[in-house]
Amino acid sequence: AAIERGGYDHFMLKEIFEQPTTVENTMRGRLILEDGTSKLGGLNMSHEQLMAIDNIVITACGTSWHSALIGEMMIEDLCRIPVEVEYASEFRYRNPIVTPTTLCIVISQSGETADTLAAMREAKRRGAHTLGLVNVVGSTIAREDDGGVYLHAGPEIGVASTKAFTSQVVALALFALKLARKRTLSVIRGREIAQAMHDLPAQIQKILDRAAEIEKIAEEYKDAHNFLYLGRGFNFPAALEGALKLKEISYIHAEGYPAAEMKHGPIALIDEKMPVVFIAPHDGVFDKIVSNIQEVKARGGKTIIITSRDEPALEGLVDHEFRIPETVDMLTPVLASVPLQLLAYYIAVKRGANVDQPRNLAKSVTVE
Ligand code: G6P
Repeated sequence: AAIERGGYDHFMLKEIFEQPTTVENTMRGRLILEDGTSKLGGLNMSHEQLMAIDNIVITACGTSWHSALIGEMMIEDLCRIPVEVEYASEFRYRNPIVTPTTLCIVISQSGETADTLAAMREAKRRGAHTLGLVNVVGSTIAREDDGGVYLHAGPEIGVASTKAFTSQVVALALFALKLARKRTLSVIRGREIAQAMHDLPAQIQKILDRAAEIEKIAEEYKDAHNFLYLGRGFNFPAALEGALKLKEISYIHAEGYPAAEMKHGPIALIDEKMPVVFIAPHDGVFDKIVSNIQEVKARGGKTIIITSRDEPALEGLVDHEFRIPETVDMLTPVLASVPLQLLAYYIAVKRGANVDQPRNLAKSVTVE
């Protein structure tokens, strides 16, 4: 097993460190820089079909559901098509609005999650075109969908999903770019996004080179009983995913919240013992999140801030800071997720938890 782990202590750590390559593999041969678009051979939809889509439903479970939320924001922002994200387990038991002009995107690392598979079958039954974003080649969802985009992230062994998540977000960005360029997005803006995608692997590598900074923060907070993760816009789902990673492998209670929504509840929990992770890159909502950071600081909370620039506005508000490179707003969650994965990993290891096989969890949930 030590050989399979390639010298890393755990599969999870190996998979976190593989991300420059796995993200690259998701984009390989698909990104067209000069046209600011992408080529997705497995989509299996004609130009007419693509143009006829008037609503999109994305369904998934767990970490894949978090990438779906980022996909929703990307698609609505770039393509101006309404998108609904739904837990697969909920979607299948209500009466969802799905028609032949609905595109149903199904996201699953394993391609075998029972609820996700059932939701896809239900969408098909109602006449939707189904598109699978799946990692495992030949899995049930990949075989039954109408079209697909394989993630090409390679086998993910750690139960807590890491590299599959970043590849899902990148696959969603590829799809959003393609659809947007067919519809309303200018070639100039398309090129800017494509170039930013192209730059992601090297940027992820820069983050990984500084993993020791995160390990230090982990040392300080490994005995915390609770954690709050806050983000806005594209990084609200990153907050949810950061909290999920910590819960899954360290068994510390953690909640992800939209930063501004904190004042409607979680703010009551803040005291000197509460570490609050802010995902606050310099994006379109940066100024807004600063006031949320002030609210936490004013109540004695400990702030761990993931940001992307030297920001005078943050002076006096930061207990710990980790810098990520700058990119276009919609791709910030790809970069922000990497330090959050490392934080969960190092905390779990320091607490002596079984990182690759957390209690009560399964890599793939094939029962309802
Ligand atoms: C399980 C795994 C999670 C995963 C979820 C969905 O709960 O522990 O890591 O996100 O299933 O799995 P899928 O294979 O459908 O993405």
